[in-house]
Amino acid sequence: MGDRQIHDLPGVGPAIAEKLQDAGFSDIMSIAVSSPKELSEVADIGEATAAKIIQAARKQADVGKFETGVELLERRSRVGYVTTQAKNFDELLGGKGMESQSITELFGEFGSGKTQIAQQMCVNVQLPIEDGGLNAHAFYIDTENTFRPDRIKQMAEGLSLDPDEVLSKIHVARAYNSSHQMLLVDKVNELSKEVPGRLLVVDSLTSHFRAEYIGRGALADRQQKLNKHMHDLLRWGDLNNGLVVVTNQVSAKPDAFFGDPTRPIGGHIVGHTATFRLYLRKSKGTKRIARLIDSPHLPEGEAVFSVILEGIRD
Ligand code: GTP
Ligand code: MG
Repeated sequence: MGDRQIHDLPGVGPAIAEKLQDAGFSDIMSIAVSSPKELSEVADIGEATAAKIIQAARKQADVGKFETGVELLERRSRVGYVTTQAKNFDELLGGKGMESQSITELFGEFGSGKTQIAQQMCVNVQLPIEDGGLNAHAFYIDTENTFRPDRIKQMAEGLSLDPDEVLSKIHVARAYNSSHQMLLVDKVNELSKEVPGRLLVVDSLTSHFRAEYIGRGALADRQQKLNKHMHDLLRWGDLNNGLVVVTNQVSAKPDAFFGDPTRPIGGHIVGHTATFRLYLRKSKGTKRIARLIDSPHLPEGEAVFSVILEGIRD
């Protein structure tokens, strides 16, 4: 996929391409799985034209690829793991840390440790396999400008790694709004052909969406975009046998206006697409607690970890 652009589709001129891009239809697959009604609305075209474009997209996209059980098993057997540097935390995740070919969602209130874990994983993924890494680079999509090279240096030194070398293998981009954030995933797909990246962080997954899509009327739109974004991320994880880590801030205080406070924004969409959901909360001092929520093949449980100078530890 990735190689073919939406403006290569018959019937999609520059104006339509731009409208589609703006609405989040940035690749052939997203168009292939859309409906004529949806497409005609966002691109201001007739439904018949939309249907033709969708047909063309379906021909080009690899829609509905079936894998045999053998192939699935083979793909599962290639799953890579990256340690968190905290034994308890790794145990919670099944023993070896976070998994490739999946999305791990870190959700919790401000200061619960989401960004610290995300940055730590950027260091850990670089470790050799025998030390719990994948000997690979990391991509970091930063929406809140909270990525700190100085902090990475401390974490690298905490593992006796060369800080500058570690920094040179983390590719950071600032996302200015939600469309930009989604476009950056395309960019990561391109970069992944040149750079051996096995970790993709989106910190935060939801802040731009939360700020831009306000009110009940915007909810459906927001969910649709987030859904597409999550699937783009998952596809990167599958294609590159990589780990995707996303953060999602939730309020710890009930707020009648926005409904259930423990429901992270993105609600069921993010929840169903993420393979591992970790709810983080503050404890005493540097201690934090991670709780694994509705994991398909792991028992629910909690792990206590600390955020110290060297990074994440037991
Ligand atoms: P939001 O992005 O605001 O939702 O919070 P977050 O969940 O991303 O929190 P973050 O990971 O940024 O911080 C968690 C905690 O880690 C902070 O409350 C600090 O106690 C600690 N922390 C943050 N930066 C450092 C640092 O540079 N050194 C040390 N030792 N601890 C830090
Ligand atoms: Mg943060």
